[in-house]
Amino acid sequence: MRVVIQENYDKMCKWAAEYIAAKINAHHEDRPFVLGLPTGSSPIGVYRELIKKNKAGEVSFGNVITFNMDEYLGLPHEHDQSYWYFMHDNFFDHLTDMKPENINILNGMTDDPEGECARYEAKIAACGGIDLFMGGIGVDGHLAFNEPFTSLTSRTGVRALTTDTRIVNSRFFGNDPEKVPAYALSVGIGTVTDSKEVLVLISGHNKARALAQTVEGNVSHKWTCSALQMHNGAIIACDEAACGELTVDTYKYFLDIEKAERL
Ligand code: GLP
Repeated sequence: MRVVIQENYDKMCKWAAEYIAAKINAHHEDRPFVLGLPTGSSPIGVYRELIKKNKAGEVSFGNVITFNMDEYLGLPHEHDQSYWYFMHDNFFDHLTDMKPENINILNGMTDDPEGECARYEAKIAACGGIDLFMGGIGVDGHLAFNEPFTSLTSRTGVRALTTDTRIVNSRFFGNDPEKVPAYALSVGIGTVTDSKEVLVLISGHNKARALAQTVEGNVSHKWTCSALQMHNGAIIACDEAACGELTVDTYKYFLDIEKAERL
């Protein structure tokens, strides 16, 4: 696992955007580059940077297929808290060359949730798998909407949200946890770890415990983010604030390693 520690949120986002753009630009296979994407506050700065690069002609999305991590069950596209709305509002609508037919987001209004999830998995496979999955994590360590005790080999499916997550996400629903949908459709931990690379953004003091569990904790379904320890291409991009619960030795180790890799 790489842990790339940046001074603050903005620098973390710039680093991640640079990394993703470089990967897209270095992709020379016959098939499009397949990019997994998250929602939430964490990736907003990365989207901003990628939009800038796209407008400046530094990266094209013309040959990119995207798959989003998750979607609330029961929210229509036009609901301003649906992840469909979030992605278009914060990213897709601002790109110069993203093809709408290459955007994949689980349909939260489906009347066949299991079928929708099975189709999503099949489509990822038909596209040749995900090259790079960018993610964020919740304060309880959930990756996509894989709450504590979701199997580390889980596939795309319906997920019940914990009370904790509904409270945390209620900031987008008028601070009323009851207004946060109780269920979501989400890729599984196995879906994420099948990707060639996984890049997870972790920033802020409130994620310090989750970062420590991801990097230093045991691999356990209690912290589903800990599955990244078993992935050979996992990168955590984080800021100083999120490092507060790492041991000093862990912190120094990753700074040393990154310095060495840059030489
Ligand atoms: C939601 C999403 C997750 C996301 C998490 C963290 O629960 N389903 O995919 O990673 O929030 O969000 P934030 O980045 O806003 O802290």
